Amino acid sequence: MMRNACRFNAQLMDFLRPHVAVGRTTESIDTLVHQYTVDHGHSPACLGYPGEHQPFPKSCCISVNDVICHGIPGSYDLKPGDIVNVDITTIVDGWYGDQSETFIIGEEHQVTDLARNVTQSAFEALHAGIEAVYPGCQVAEIGKAIVALVRDKFPGFGVVEKYVGHGIGAKFHQRPNIPHVPTRQSRQDRLYPGMCFTIEPMINTGTERSILDPKDGWTVRTLDGGLSAQFEHTILMTEDGAEILTLTNDGPQAGDVI
Ligand code: MF3
Ligand code: CO
Ligand code: CO
Repeated sequence: MMRNACRFNAQLMDFLRPHVAVGRTTESIDTLVHQYTVDHGHSPACLGYPGEHQPFPKSCCISVNDVICHGIPGSYDLKPGDIVNVDITTIVDGWYGDQSETFIIGEEHQVTDLARNVTQSAFEALHAGIEAVYPGCQVAEIGKAIVALVRDKFPGFGVVEKYVGHGIGAKFHQRPNIPHVPTRQSRQDRLYPGMCFTIEPMINTGTERSILDPKDGWTVRTLDGGLSAQFEHTILMTEDGAEILTLTNDGPQAGDVI
């Protein structure tokens, strides 16, 4: 059931890919997410997801430049040089598939090295986390691998601590939390065969600290206005190791330079 839900979610990401481009509003991408999902008989998990201030009002999260996560699609139109994360989650027959990618908008010469590097750092962080896990391992192996990668290859960038990956299945967010830095709890929690969870590192060009938009209660921005990038997959732990359930046909693959 999880393979099936995640396969659909990945297919949705491939469908969206050509539409995440200069001049598109984030709202127009959200409309495509909603239509494609319901046309296939499924539900967007983000729409109406409960929050402290208000339920999430759209069908996906779109987070541009200094937005770390949970950006609400709206009238902003994408510009050359923007980096934009599209985070989609579908409920298929009661089971959840969750993934995100950060897209670099515009031509190569329109994109700063900083924007490209932070996007690359989040992509490599995701795959460092995936490669670090094995049956029965501590959840903390993920955070250890990500912190080491960022320290060695992207010094100065911040790994977001406040927002974390999560167990996933017949509920969107469940235990265990999957932090992207090692924590006391993540050294206790273990990943056994049969468990599904996400890895979804958010990497900032400056401080890892963030601020929640007091008006909408959802949009999370970098405290210093720096850029932030994120990639996410849903993973199944098998007896042979991690299986990525949300692999796309057309997106970047492990080892790629974005
Ligand atoms: N997709 C996000 C995650 O990776 C959660 C978004 S919840 C929403 O966990 F309500 F903001 F949509
Ligand atoms: Co997500
Ligand atoms: Co998630």
